[in-house]
Amino acid sequence: MPARDRGSGHRGTLARPARPGWAGRAGPAATSPPRWEGPAVVVEDLRKSYGAVRALRGVDFEVGQGQVLGLLGPNGAGKTTAVRILTTLVVPDGGRALVAGHDVARSPAAVRELIGLAGQATAIQEELTGRENLDIVGRLYHLDPKTRRRRAEELLERLELADAADRPAKGYSGGMQRRLDLALSLLSRPAVLFLDEPTTGLDPRSRLAMWAVIRELVAAGTTLLLTTQYLEEADELADRIVVVDQGRVIAEGTAAELKGRVGGEVIEFQVLDRTQLERAAAALAGLSAHEPSVDPEAAHVRLAVGERGSSSLVETVRRLDAAGIATEGLAVRRPSLDDVFLALTGHGAASSDGPPTPTRPRWGRGH
Ligand SMILES: Nc1ncnc2c1ncn2[C@@H]1O[C@H](COP(=O)(O)OP(=O)(O)OP(=O)(O)O)[C@@H](O)[C@H]1O
Ligand SMILES: [Mg+2]
Repeated sequence: MPARDRGSGHRGTLARPARPGWAGRAGPAATSPPRWEGPAVVVEDLRKSYGAVRALRGVDFEVGQGQVLGLLGPNGAGKTTAVRILTTLVVPDGGRALVAGHDVARSPAAVRELIGLAGQATAIQEELTGRENLDIVGRLYHLDPKTRRRRAEELLERLELADAADRPAKGYSGGMQRRLDLALSLLSRPAVLFLDEPTTGLDPRSRLAMWAVIRELVAAGTTLLLTTQYLEEADELADRIVVVDQGRVIAEGTAAELKGRVGGEVIEFQVLDRTQLERAAAALAGLSAHEPSVDPEAAHVRLAVGERGSSSLVETVRRLDAAGIATEGLAVRRPSLDDVFLALTGHGAASSDGPPTPTRPRWGRGH
């Protein structure tokens, strides 16, 4: 069923014809992406169900041109469903989605010419080498042979795949396959790029390398929508963050705003003798404006302490010591997605795939 039309709204007009031509142009000077009026992505009341599973239940957000939006949420939140709709792979049940001014349900071909996608499942042909994979995608975008080769070499080099370029991709490690997949999505120099969990499964070094490549793209004017399960990653890369859970937007803002809602930095530790868990939480009462949260299963305590991380840490140690409570892993850290969820919903960012377990939340409120 086509997406519901709500009138012209943000529908923009392309200032230049949307053909593979711009992407196929040779030379670094010809790399400015096409422009259109209005935001790069508009999502209004987007809905999608798979049988009884309501993957998206009326989602709204926008991504301005040249902006980076982080779609943040746990497993099953609906992130990939949103990306698949925006990249024309899935038709929504209701609502509307525009990419570069084109309605994804009405003009999927126009959208496809302007976008790149590195999906959660890779688009790699495993029997082919990395270089052959890039060549095939270059042909799909009608890039001339010289441009195709030059861009493939650049991307192989930049993503540290040059040494493996002539080996079949099925022999690549998970991280190498992710990098090759990103290279494939970048070959056409898309105006709007969708990256679905670009760094999941990457080691810390590869993750930093991936972030560097993504920053370069953004600096060159690419609009980016990336999904992630990590607040830290959204914080590093995104101008704005939309937090989704169970098919709905539950919060929106900059990383700083979301952290503000969490209560700033977090002190956490494990209690060695779990019968002392409640006493540990009680010992910390009043230390911050927030109540300590206790996870009985993991014998874990955490407390949001605003910007007073180190001084609160000293006070925490003093109080626990005075109460005779032995702990391990006591540390102060920046807030995570789990902390955001706890602050927003009262439960942690456990997968929303399964049925909710209200009687036994992963993170209970402190007593
Ligand atoms: N093709 C499908 N058929 C049936 N159910 C689906 C399909 N795709 C997604 N779902 C369901 O829709 C919900 C949202 O899934 P989606 O893949 O969008 O989540 P996600 O936020 O990307 O999660 P993850 O972090 O695990 O990638 C889940 O409950 C999922 O099981
Ligand atoms: Mg997903």
